[in-house]
Amino acid sequence: MKKLYSLVAKLNDENSPIFDLIVFMSEIYFRIFFRKFYKKELVNFLRKFELRGKTYEIRKIDERFALELYRMLSNLRTEFMPPHRNDLASLKRILKNKSFFATGIFDGEKLIGYGLGRFFPLRRAVPAVVIAEGYQGKGLYVLWSRIMFKVVKEDFREYKFNMFSTVDKRNKIAINNNLKTGFKIVLDAGDFLVFRA
Ligand SMILES: CC(C)(COP(=O)(O)OP(=O)(O)OC[C@H]1O[C@@H](n2cnc3c(N)ncnc32)[C@H](O)[C@@H]1OP(=O)(O)O)[C@@H](O)C(=O)NCCC(=O)NCCS
Repeated sequence: MKKLYSLVAKLNDENSPIFDLIVFMSEIYFRIFFRKFYKKELVNFLRKFELRGKTYEIRKIDERFALELYRMLSNLRTEFMPPHRNDLASLKRILKNKSFFATGIFDGEKLIGYGLGRFFPLRRAVPAVVIAEGYQGKGLYVLWSRIMFKVVKEDFREYKFNMFSTVDKRNKIAINNNLKTGFKIVLDAGDFLVFRA
């Protein structure tokens, strides 16, 4: 089991030589075995929610949002970035990838958050989320996590995904949030902790 968790930890390391290979293979695997994953309602995924009297939307995003996402990420003052390369070309590839479920959090038409569900063979789902400067500390992370947990456990229930999360040990906010949203630590992988829910 430890080997499996170490492999999950590597999925968070874009410098790992196996990262691109795993992502490439996952997409082929999904195209073959998970056709229903592209169900219309997931392609047009939309959730509206209210937080402190303000309405936000979580929508499925694709490569058309790459530039907006690139700008949002470039303005972040954090050392913790989404677990993949974040140049424009890589973001386009990520947003196109059929085994990833990329969502944007919107304030009106403005992209203010990015949440990515990455799905891998052996029924592994690995979420990651980033909230834009100026919108942090309002509860958006917690809300996105709750909504995505529901999606994985209900909309995708036939796939029986296990949720994993890999977090840099210095990222105390993400660690606390994972523990609050039902994740448990399953491996200390050096610089990272691996969580499972
Ligand atoms: C981590 C991150 C996503 C948190 O998003 P957020 O929307 O600001 O978080 P929330 O408002 O939902 O708050 C979640 C908890 O973290 C706490 N928190 C949020 N920002 C904080 C800060 N700057 N300092 C201390 N605590 C903070 C909140 O108080 C809250 O705790 P509580 O439930 O006990 O009140 C955001 O800071 C971010 O984008 N960081 C960079 C990327 C990253 O680390 N992603 C996570 C790994 S995938």
